[in-house]
Amino acid sequence: MKKIIISTLICFFVLPLNAADETDNRKALLLSEVQRHHVLSEMRSMLLGTQQIIQAVAEDDMLAVARHARMLGMEMAHKGEDHLQSVLPDDFMQLGMSVHKSFDKIATDAEILKDSKHTLSQLSITLQQCVTCHSAYQIWTTDIPVDAEPHPAHQLSH
Ligand code: HEC
Repeated sequence: MKKIIISTLICFFVLPLNAADETDNRKALLLSEVQRHHVLSEMRSMLLGTQQIIQAVAEDDMLAVARHARMLGMEMAHKGEDHLQSVLPDDFMQLGMSVHKSFDKIATDAEILKDSKHTLSQLSITLQQCVTCHSAYQIWTTDIPVDAEPHPAHQLSH
């Protein structure tokens, strides 16, 4: 019992401290402001689409599941990733493509099997791909946004 309490305490207090100390060693992708905007807009669409799929699962509306999942499929990838292909590393592109393929599979299975539990387990696997990429990459840009404001400097009043 004592051992369990001690290891629980270690988990709660020691691990978060270690995590805070960690440096950010995700690989940095250097993009222009337009490219960065493009990638991040797609990311936000994927988050929105994922929320809509979960909502549809909760309502047992498998046709809506298929509709929302299809929008995140390969069609989305074809919409404008061509110009990013040359600037993004191959493994980044491949990971991105496998996410789009997974959403197509979710859509097809939702139409045919109409099994919400199956959809949920597919979603879980797909979200692991999001997690994998997010822990490996970050985006940097050399451009300063047009409407960027400098952070107000601290007043040295004394
Ligand atoms: C191939 C890599 C990759 C995959 C796969 C991926 N992301 Fe991202 N995502 C990124 C990167 C890189 C960033 C920028 C992170 C940074 O700069 O700190 C990002 C940022 C985001 C953001 C923040 C957007 C913003 O406006 O700042 C959201 C939301 C997001 N991703 C959602 C998702 C979701 C949901 C999935 C899966 C369905 C997903 N991403 C899959 C690479 C990926």
